[in-house]
Amino acid sequence: MGPLLNRRGVLGACAAPLLSALPGVGRAQAGERALRAVEAHRQFPGLPVPTPMWCFDEATPGPLLRYRKGDRVAVRVRNDLKQPTTVHWHGVRVPIAMDGVPGISQPAIKPGESFLYQFDARDSGTFWYHPHQKSFEQVGRGMYGAFIVEEARPIEANADVCWVLSDLLVDRATGAQAPFGRIHEHATRGRIGNIVTVNGRPAGREVTLDVRSGQRVRLRLVNAATARAFLLSFEGHDPHVIAFDGQGVTPHRAGKEGVLLGPGMRVDLVLDCADAPGKSFAVSDAGSRAVIAAVRYRDEAPLAANLFKAPLQLAPNDLVPPDMKNAQRHEVAIRGGDAGPPVIGLVDGKEIPLHEMMRTHGLAWTVNTHATHEEAHEHVPLFTFKRGTTHIITMQNGTAFIHPMHLHGHFFRVLAYNGQAPRHDEWRDTVFLNSWDEVTVAVVADEPGDWMFHCHVLEHAAAGMMGVIRVE
Ligand code: C2O
Ligand code: CU
Repeated sequence: MGPLLNRRGVLGACAAPLLSALPGVGRAQAGERALRAVEAHRQFPGLPVPTPMWCFDEATPGPLLRYRKGDRVAVRVRNDLKQPTTVHWHGVRVPIAMDGVPGISQPAIKPGESFLYQFDARDSGTFWYHPHQKSFEQVGRGMYGAFIVEEARPIEANADVCWVLSDLLVDRATGAQAPFGRIHEHATRGRIGNIVTVNGRPAGREVTLDVRSGQRVRLRLVNAATARAFLLSFEGHDPHVIAFDGQGVTPHRAGKEGVLLGPGMRVDLVLDCADAPGKSFAVSDAGSRAVIAAVRYRDEAPLAANLFKAPLQLAPNDLVPPDMKNAQRHEVAIRGGDAGPPVIGLVDGKEIPLHEMMRTHGLAWTVNTHATHEEAHEHVPLFTFKRGTTHIITMQNGTAFIHPMHLHGHFFRVLAYNGQAPRHDEWRDTVFLNSWDEVTVAVVADEPGDWMFHCHVLEHAAAGMMGVIRVE
């Protein structure tokens, strides 16, 4: 194996302890760890004063939590904010009591109080953590971090790097974050920021992945933005896609389509750096039509030996394959938004037209006609599944907006996007629905509990696009 990346060249907050990629060296965390929800300030270039943020451990993203498959995770979260919070471990299969949904799986952590999250890291993969209390605001203000579980035998790479992508919406005159909870944002695309960030730093060519010619880099991407989707391409490179939402997929090239990351989604890439020393290549996002980072080759002779031919297939996690013969079928109809056909929603059992719903309840979306308040927490389950049974869910996006639909505590197998089977077997915890799309997934009911099923455009979730799937 060639020399490891110079850690100073790799992005700060999220650069993995690289030694831990070597078997037996630099063991991942064990024992209890503290995590503190707290306010902090952050100076962004070009703004008059530091911007107030809400963070974990005073940083955005919060600390990268890294474990090894099978480890016991113990994180004591202390809330030093002025309002209640929780932590949800997105994509991590935990018992319901550790799922971090206030009013459903636990009471919210009050200011000054703590909560100990404890669970086994069942699955290896790239996951993340964020509050589930007023998520659109708490995540939007900067509360999120990556959560990585290494495989027992990771694939060989010279470096393991994580980029947490996000954005924030600031008032450039005052440096403050723009007000949260505006119905116009909630009823349309969600809150799209005016500063895109990579590991908390403003995106652009200055954000560099410094590599040496001949290196193979595993690049884990997390989209922690509340509403922005990314469609990335790597100039001069065609990365291998090796995992979606932490679960291995048949390794394949990203190709011309690029790498799509709706809010909440993750993709693991492998970048073979075969170009020449001294060169630099743009990483661009087609959504914002902007360069978000650069792959920069150091002026050093290429590695004598490279890993370009090493296997890329990740060891699978123990996901139970769906039992298609005995599966039950369900439909999920998504409606609403301030630019679609007229909609009547059910709010607490009452039928209300969309515009009145928006005005009087701040709700703008329905799931099977119900519009559910984030803080209502009297969720009548959308569906109740018996543990171990298979369910085929067809989600129909009857709106002009994108919806990355996320199910807690489970992975589903994507069966079809608009009637077409995906080219590779995709296990995901968050599936991307473009406007008017129809997507079908199969899920095997796993752990008992009430599991949230919601759009990960967090403003949409806050404005009604959420429900609960009960497993018993
Ligand atoms: Cu990442 Cu219920 O969310
Ligand atoms: Cu949505």
